[in-house]
Amino acid sequence: MPRLTLTAAALVGFASGVLCDLQTCGPAQYDPTQYVCWDNQFLCPITAGEPLSNCAGACYSKFMYSCTNNVLALLPPAETPFTLTVDNPGLPIHGKPVTAAGQHWSLNAETSSYCPEQVGDACPPGTETVIVSSGGRVSMSVMVPGGQQAYLDPYWNMAYTQAHSAYIPPGSVSTGFGAYQGGGFVNLNGNGWGWAACPPRASGGGGPGWNLVARNETNADRYNECHPVNLKINSQPSGTLGAWQYT
Ligand SMILES: *[C@@H]1O[C@H](CO)[C@@H](O)[C@H](O)[C@H]1NC(C)=O
Repeated sequence: MPRLTLTAAALVGFASGVLCDLQTCGPAQYDPTQYVCWDNQFLCPITAGEPLSNCAGACYSKFMYSCTNNVLALLPPAETPFTLTVDNPGLPIHGKPVTAAGQHWSLNAETSSYCPEQVGDACPPGTETVIVSSGGRVSMSVMVPGGQQAYLDPYWNMAYTQAHSAYIPPGSVSTGFGAYQGGGFVNLNGNGWGWAACPPRASGGGGPGWNLVARNETNADRYNECHPVNLKINSQPSGTLGAWQYT
C-alpha cells in the first residue's frame, strides 16, 4: 500500500516538473517531504507537519497515541485545564496560541475577556485562553456561573456560548472531542480530517489572526487555502481558570 501511494506521488512530481530528491526506504523510493522512513523498512506519511511515528508497522500520531513494547495505546485523557498551541513546523503560526474572542476560537489573535467591576481582583487574568475537557465535551475554563460551553458551530468553526446563556445554534456539534494528556486536542467527528488553520482573508472567516476550522470530507475542498494543523495541549495546574468570562 505505501508503495502504491509512493508511485502516485512520484508521478505527480514528474508531471508537474518538480524535481524532488527521492530517497530509499528498503526496496521503496519515497519523497522525504511527504513521508518518513522508519528502520529502513516502514514508510509513514507526514501529516500537518508531523512525521507519523511507527509502532510495529502501524503509523500513528503522537498527539493521540503512544507506543509501548510495540503496542499502540490512546494517550490518557487530559484531566486538568489546558491551553492550546498550533503545531505544524511549516507554518508561521507554529507554537502560537488558540485564542478566544468574539465567541469563537482563533489562532494567534488576542484573547478577549471580561471581568465585572464588583468581582475585580478576584478575576483570573483573562489574557490567556484556558480550556477544559471531559467526557468528549469541551468548555472554556471560566469563573462565570453556568460556564461557557465550546462546540463546533454549523460551519465547523469552534465557538463557545455567551456567558449566562446556554444557547447553541441548531446543527452544532458539542460532543466527540478528545483531549489527550501529553498530546493534542482532537475532533473525533471529522473522520480523521483534522483541524486546519486558515490565513487571514482566506475562506473560513474574517477577523484578526488565523481562523481555526474542523475539516471533514464535505468541506475539505472549501478549505483549500487552509493548512492542516495539530492542536497541542499544554496542561495547566488543576483548577486553573483563564478568565471570569470570555467575550
Ligand atoms: C462538515 O462540515 C460542514 C461545515 O463546514 C457541515 O455543514 C457538514 O455537516 C459536515 N459534514 C459532516 C459529515 O459532518
